[in-house]
Amino acid sequence: MATERSAAPILVASNRGPVSYSVRQDGGLDARRGGGGLVSGLSAIGPEAGALWVCAALGEGDREAVRRGIVGAGPKAPLNSGGGGRRAGEPGVRMLDIDAEVHADAYNGIANSVLWFVHHMLYQTPLEPSFDREFRRQWAAYEQYNRAFAEALAAEAAPGAAVLVQDYHLALVPGMLRALRDDLRIGHFSHTPWAPVDYFRMLPDDIAEQLLQGMLGADRLAFLTRRWADAFTTCCDALVGGVGATRVGVHGLGADAEFLRERAHRADVAERIAALREQIGGAGRKTVVRVDRTELSKNIVRGLRAYELLLAERPEWRERVVHLAFAYPSRQDLAVYRDYTAEVSRVAEEINSRYRTPGWTPVILHVEDDFARSLAAYRLADVALVNPIRDGMNLVAKEVPVVSDEGCALVLSREAGAFEELGADALAVNPYDVVGTAAALHEGLTMPEKERRARTERLAAAGTALPPGRWFLEQLAALG
Ligand code: G6P
Repeated sequence: MATERSAAPILVASNRGPVSYSVRQDGGLDARRGGGGLVSGLSAIGPEAGALWVCAALGEGDREAVRRGIVGAGPKAPLNSGGGGRRAGEPGVRMLDIDAEVHADAYNGIANSVLWFVHHMLYQTPLEPSFDREFRRQWAAYEQYNRAFAEALAAEAAPGAAVLVQDYHLALVPGMLRALRDDLRIGHFSHTPWAPVDYFRMLPDDIAEQLLQGMLGADRLAFLTRRWADAFTTCCDALVGGVGATRVGVHGLGADAEFLRERAHRADVAERIAALREQIGGAGRKTVVRVDRTELSKNIVRGLRAYELLLAERPEWRERVVHLAFAYPSRQDLAVYRDYTAEVSRVAEEINSRYRTPGWTPVILHVEDDFARSLAAYRLADVALVNPIRDGMNLVAKEVPVVSDEGCALVLSREAGAFEELGADALAVNPYDVVGTAAALHEGLTMPEKERRARTERLAAAGTALPPGRWFLEQLAALG
């Protein structure tokens, strides 16, 4: 049982935590606070709530922080630890120092290669999976990694505590935790799409069943859209005889308008705007903006091809538009991601070498993650391009309209979760249809200003309907 010291009434569990550490040259630790809906959502519960966030130590800095007792089982580190005290409303953090090989097999091997690929339907010839002995070995690591979380949560939770488990990395935790602590209220939230049943059953039968049963150990499961919730329920009906007593709900995470508006008007963003304007050059040039992790599901290459087609078939746009493509490297341990990252650069360069003129660079690709520069691009955007093959929600689609200076047209994949709420005022695209995407870019670039502003206002309202704080509180309340 949990000791009094560690008896938390509210717990969150996720692979990636709200803070990460790096070791400085002088041996000290630097803490870097992460962003994202969950981090801001949690701050809504107030400082007195005594929440604890359980996450994995992800690099040498994190492991060192565990060794030094900053984020270990002992006293809880505040989110912004590194010295200072806990900020109001911030939870403590406990990082689990899971064996590096076990973590790699669970995170790279199963979570990001198999489960991410299934839910985003990324397996295509010749990338179809072979569920061989190596897969089974990695699956055992995934179980071990999930068990480490379940055990830590069981040890830290106060009697009757609410535990909110996040995402596909931890799909087995609800069932494992239920077996250890029957008194807890357990929720699980999926930040990804859920695969349609005919695709999901590509997984070996016993694994598919174990995953579903693992999740059904929760009192309540939640998804970003009705579509993903229904897909999950259909899988359960077909493969494990239904969802049983587990409740299934939907909470469509929205953008944080208050935070974004304030953040986007700070001096560092103004500086980035000036720098981007310089790069864009030419007075009155329009911008097509995209901001993504370099992620296969984000469909960045087809986006570039659509832009190229626009320049090829509508030469009037040459020298009159610039594509600001911000693609921040992600999951670089995986060869397919490294290859994809290289392909994005290659295609951007190919377009530039074909169309560039003195004083005009058609594609400005930035790969170094810089939130202030992303916000600067949001403010400058005439058209935002959000064309994922499949996406749980996609917050960029919801954020750009909030901070856009002059209003922007949103070209949005109908396969993004955000389409459910934004579809009416976006320019819808089939993500595979490069010709259709090029046409939508043209339509966005030529949209009359009045219409553009009116749509942007409606998009901003729809995209901020459920800000992170309320999104989080809703889930807690629904858990009972
Ligand atoms: C998606 C997942 C998150 C994950 C994020 C970044 O949004 O739903 O759980 O944290 O991608 O991916 P990473 O592998 O870097 O944590």
